[in-house]
Amino acid sequence: MDVPGLVVELRPVESTGCLELVPLRRQQDLVDQHRTTVPHIPYRAAAPDCDTVAVLEPEYSDDYTDPRLAIFYDQLNDWGPSDEFYLGRMMSATTVLDVGCGTGRLLHHAREAGHTGRLVGLDPASAMLDQAKVRTDVEWILGDLGTAEFDREFDLVIMTGHVFQVFLSDEDIAASLAAVRSALATDGTFAFETLNPLRRPWEHWTGGADVIAADGAIVTAENTNPQLVEPHIVEVTGRFSSPSWERDVLCPSKFRFVDIETLDALLRDAGFVVVERYCGWDGQPYADDSPEIVTIAARTRGA
Ligand SMILES: C[S@@+](CC[C@H](N)C(=O)[O-])C[C@H]1O[C@@H](n2cnc3c(N)ncnc32)[C@H](O)[C@@H]1O
Repeated sequence: MDVPGLVVELRPVESTGCLELVPLRRQQDLVDQHRTTVPHIPYRAAAPDCDTVAVLEPEYSDDYTDPRLAIFYDQLNDWGPSDEFYLGRMMSATTVLDVGCGTGRLLHHAREAGHTGRLVGLDPASAMLDQAKVRTDVEWILGDLGTAEFDREFDLVIMTGHVFQVFLSDEDIAASLAAVRSALATDGTFAFETLNPLRRPWEHWTGGADVIAADGAIVTAENTNPQLVEPHIVEVTGRFSSPSWERDVLCPSKFRFVDIETLDALLRDAGFVVVERYCGWDGQPYADDSPEIVTIAARTRGA
């Protein structure tokens, strides 16, 4: 996953014996806002004016439900071609449900772009939804497809940012598809994407980016140790660390990589037919080396 971020240089300050973080490029405005609270990092053990940073065991958390970490989501995920793809579809649908809406930015953009119909965002993480709620002209629902009950209300249901991959078992997927189907109007469509397992993208899920915490601390967010832990299931641990924090925060998560044949069988069994299929966001058709499996599905006729 491409997560561009802040680049800083560590410069020694002779008068204090400490290192100062100096931004080199990107997000300069954010750093400027917080410059006075960016801490100095000790770089000489004997320096008299520096605190020693203790190395403690990391704590475990979740990057969507932990409010300290959820605020990094939009910093780590720039608006991009996938957002434009979904936004275009949203603008031509009267009623839209965004499942796993996160910070709600797609729904925000739709309203800002002049969408006048019903927009609903559903997410089980209140720390994400709290950020979404800065707009009050969208309906926000705390929960998931198991808790919300919709009855043929939406022309379009979207599931973006690879939310579909949090459903790990065939049973989870079947239950989610059944709920999406109940939410869809008779001629409605369900649009979502999954990463193509044939490309083994998790092998490149390393690296990270720097972000700014609520108190101005610079925090490094990185993916560590992505690995296949079961057939089709990848586990990866997000690590958040900062010179200002006593300990690192680790966020393990698992994602299902469903192959296209299994995906289509699960859709068929749930009463869907695939009406469009793309390799990514430029409208090109799917091929085995496609990075994404972008699917637009509709109710099977008569079902
Ligand atoms: C990668 S973010 C995607 C957010 C948003 N869709 C986007 O594209 O920016 C994943 C989101 O899925 C939500 N999520 C996790 N499990 C979920 C579930 N079972 N049902 C719906 N959403 C879920 C998380 O809380 C998080 O906000």
